[in-house]
Amino acid sequence: MISKLHSYFFPKLVAIMLPLSLAAQLRGIPAFVVIPNTAPKCKVANVRRYGGHVIFCEPTMQSREETAIRVLQEIGAVLVPSSNDVRIISGQGTLSLEFLDQAPKLETLIVPISGGGLLSGVVIGAKSKNPAIQVLGAEPKGGDDAAQSKACGRLVSLSHTNTIADGLRASMGDITWPIVRDLVDDIITVDDGEILEAMRYNYEVLKVAVEPSAAIGLAAVLSDNFKKNSRWNCSQNIGIVISGGECGFRCSMGITFTDYQDVIFLEGS
Ligand SMILES: *[C@@H]1O[C@H](CO)[C@@H](O)[C@H](O)[C@H]1NC(C)=O
Repeated sequence: MISKLHSYFFPKLVAIMLPLSLAAQLRGIPAFVVIPNTAPKCKVANVRRYGGHVIFCEPTMQSREETAIRVLQEIGAVLVPSSNDVRIISGQGTLSLEFLDQAPKLETLIVPISGGGLLSGVVIGAKSKNPAIQVLGAEPKGGDDAAQSKACGRLVSLSHTNTIADGLRASMGDITWPIVRDLVDDIITVDDGEILEAMRYNYEVLKVAVEPSAAIGLAAVLSDNFKKNSRWNCSQNIGIVISGGECGFRCSMGITFTDYQDVIFLEGS
């Protein structure tokens, strides 16, 4: 039985794309942000709101990298990677120090995984404070390269991903993979339906609007993969990192609208 759930809201996009755009704008430097053309409109609008120049790419790792390299060559910009960089990893690791200061009894920590920068930072930070803590990655079934990599012991990259969690499509790199391989206890995968249910729960119970990629930690804890696994289900204090709030109005309302329809129908009948 889970007796206590803790959550730590870490606005991932706010931590990378938006503040970079804003910091650059304040210094009069242009910031170019490479975003997959499938990204939700609210993400794109927020980058522009903070002065970032949006450059679209295809929703694949290869296109992301090629587009970024083209921008670097054409404009002479400096690359700020989103995950596979020791500076990014150590910055994100400060999250677990703050989290464990606020909730020292945490036994299990669940973190979304995409490129693995956030998870790498969190696992290093958390296990250096408490070596007994269990750290799990949460990953969508439609982009389960980390789960596959952990299962076979070598870095697997997928040519195609298909998930509502658009922020979790990247693959690990040469720095993040060995950290995830050696320190992370397990990866729990969930399907898009479970992610939507967790978004609804976040919205209705916690009153927090989060994007699918952020709701995935809660989805993992609520999944059978977690609840029916005797390695994890005896944890009394579980921490979930909720990373990313780029959830547009339409996307939040889409989830709750069907409920209101039911209410209206019942009242009208
Ligand atoms: C934990 O998992 C085991 C194995 O599936 C199961 O037998 C047990 O009932 C579970 N415990 C809880 C509290 O859900």
